[in-house]
Amino acid sequence: MKTFPKDFLWGAAISAPQSEGHGSLNGKSPSTWDKWYEMNPEKFSKNQGPEHTSNMYETYCEDAKRMNAIHLNSFRTSIAWTRLLPDGKTVNSEAVAFYRSYFNELRSNGVKPIINLFHFDMPWWLMKKGGWEARESVEAFAFYANTCFELFGDLVELWTTFNEPMVHVECGYLYGYHYPAIHDLKKAIQVGFHTLMAHTLAVKSFKEGKYSGQIGIILNVSPCYPKSQSKEDLEAAQLADLLNTKSFLDPTVLGTIPENLIELLAANELLPKVETNDLNTIKKNTVDFIGMNYYQPRRVQAPTKINQPALSPADFYEHYDWSGKKINPYRGWEIYPEALYDVALMIKNEYKNIAWYVSENGMGVADEERFMDQTGMIQDDYRIEFMQEHLAQLHKGIEAGSNCFGYHSWTFIDCWSWLNGYKNRYGFYRLDLENDQRTLKQSGHWFKEVVDRNGLI
Ligand code: NOJ
Repeated sequence: MKTFPKDFLWGAAISAPQSEGHGSLNGKSPSTWDKWYEMNPEKFSKNQGPEHTSNMYETYCEDAKRMNAIHLNSFRTSIAWTRLLPDGKTVNSEAVAFYRSYFNELRSNGVKPIINLFHFDMPWWLMKKGGWEARESVEAFAFYANTCFELFGDLVELWTTFNEPMVHVECGYLYGYHYPAIHDLKKAIQVGFHTLMAHTLAVKSFKEGKYSGQIGIILNVSPCYPKSQSKEDLEAAQLADLLNTKSFLDPTVLGTIPENLIELLAANELLPKVETNDLNTIKKNTVDFIGMNYYQPRRVQAPTKINQPALSPADFYEHYDWSGKKINPYRGWEIYPEALYDVALMIKNEYKNIAWYVSENGMGVADEERFMDQTGMIQDDYRIEFMQEHLAQLHKGIEAGSNCFGYHSWTFIDCWSWLNGYKNRYGFYRLDLENDQRTLKQSGHWFKEVVDRNGLI
């Protein structure tokens, strides 16, 4: 038996834009997702846009009971900035009533809410002013964050500012998967820095407000493994790690920006605009805990081609196809649970053994209905095996002294996932897109037993 620490958080994660629906009702203003879909529905898988969610805006009471039914003791979602502050300044009382009732419902079902503030859903009014490229977004976010702490601080103990800030930066400004879908490394770096400052000012206002509870950030982590031990490949892996992980992990946890990152940006004329007190503010406002979203590692080699003049991360490192890898045949991503142990030790050894939790981990599966049995239940043994293996590695990391306090699966109910729509299913509950009905999968039954045991057999 592998037993996890006492009071371990067992749960699932989702975000407001991927679960609530009701994108234009009850006072909500549009986010970039609502607008992008309006402008280019053909970009979205099967033309399914952000209205096609599991409709939790209406079903959260029953869904909280469903969480309770599989004994989840925690759940992460986000607040939609555009619902709470439709014009960025005026509080929408319907949104306050909704979120208060939602969080209360979770609590009365024994589910601790972990509330995140930004999950890729930039308000459209702010996007028109430049989005994260504009410094104005930093202050606008800090105002929104503080409003949330004031309105919901009595119901929420664990807050996080951003989910996967690096994904938002690279998908929006390098790879075309998020609005504004441009390709400009210099802008991407400015956007990254503004995001970091927005996070930092939110932490500052949380600390100054003396709210009870704790504040953190959720980062995506993909440990980087070099193709060989050659100097070039090792350096490429270090650069990939620096750009993708340390760039946010160092400032948010240690309060410092890595020297070699500054040197690299300076050498390539990529340094962002920084205001006089920014670095000092970052130094003074580190987080209480972190969430780590882990899905797959990065296999890295030294660059084989030069991409100039359009400088991109591929000028510093390249991905390669490792022949030894185990693959999720239903989505194509690598399965490498050992990386979770490496993450646990990295946090212990390099990041002050700060308190952390696995804020997302899970297995996306395309066309999952093929695994439905005659009773209508999805027999997702592959997902059970995936989680079992990842939990075993996490347990090993905890035994080695890493300060991990929870594990959240992605996700609770199959969800709408940005441009991919419903292409890949992840939930403990299957969502029937015709009638919104939820049906527990085999993995949901299994997870309940894990929670009951507080461990793995
Ligand atoms: C990470 C993101 O936080 C979430 O929004 C996304 O849907 C999942 N990964 C699955 O790809």
